Amino acid sequence: MLYPELFQSLESVRWVMSKDVPWDQFDPAQLSDEQARTIKMNAITEWAALPATEMFLRDNRNDSDFSAFMSVWFYEEQKHALVLMEYLRRFRPDLVPTEEELHAVRFDFDPAPPLETLMLHFCGEIRLNHWYRRAAEWHTEPVIKQIYKLIAQDEARHGGAYLRYMKKALIESGDVARAAFARIGVLMASARRTEKALHPTNLHVNAALFPNDTVQSRLPDPAWLEHWLDAQICFDNEWEGRVVDRILHNISLLFERTFNSVQELNRYRKEVLARLPVSTPAATPAA
Ligand SMILES: [Fe+2]
Ligand SMILES: [Fe+2]
Repeated sequence: MLYPELFQSLESVRWVMSKDVPWDQFDPAQLSDEQARTIKMNAITEWAALPATEMFLRDNRNDSDFSAFMSVWFYEEQKHALVLMEYLRRFRPDLVPTEEELHAVRFDFDPAPPLETLMLHFCGEIRLNHWYRRAAEWHTEPVIKQIYKLIAQDEARHGGAYLRYMKKALIESGDVARAAFARIGVLMASARRTEKALHPTNLHVNAALFPNDTVQSRLPDPAWLEHWLDAQICFDNEWEGRVVDRILHNISLLFERTFNSVQELNRYRKEVLARLPVSTPAATPAA
């Protein structure tokens, strides 16, 4: 069981909102309207950990270890929403999300295969770590810069915790887990070839609500994410390349085999699929 150890390690590096955020260094001249509005959108997006937790607990009924870890993850993600809202409450109260705006991102996600979801969120944490590091650079106001640095570090640690559960799944499920992780790894590391930002909050998760079934589509400004990435924090090819490198690096460690490109990982995915019995769900050919 990983939960006790992960609890301990995340507890030992936990930051405290009242002490570790330098609230008294706020410089109003360094916060623009457009910057403040992005903080609101990030706060609501973080709140979407609530429906994600409901999904994780439902889809992992047979895994009490992972479900227990969700208590830590859920707490830290809600704290991210809270610290961003606290910043707005103090310095731009007109932009604090309303309870209705927060509640709008709570909707049911369709049931999904747990191994695929785990890898999706592992890649999502890596991506978010890089987005927030870039956001910390783009912002000019010292307090919010520090907040983005703090939450970026949390996202990296979440990725590390998910990786531990992926290792555990490899021991328990072998090639079925390898096929699931490789399939999602190929998708999530191919962002440069797609139009859309590849993060769990930007994926369709409820067929009955389509097209309003992404977290992003339920924000007050559904188009903000692309604008934030392209025009504001300028998440360019170099940054995108860093995300892909981190995913490939970690999956290389996990599979004990080096993948220098998404194409190499895709070849490996096909190798694993060929080894699986045809009746295995993961052996169903992916596009
Ligand atoms: Fe977060
Ligand atoms: Fe996270």
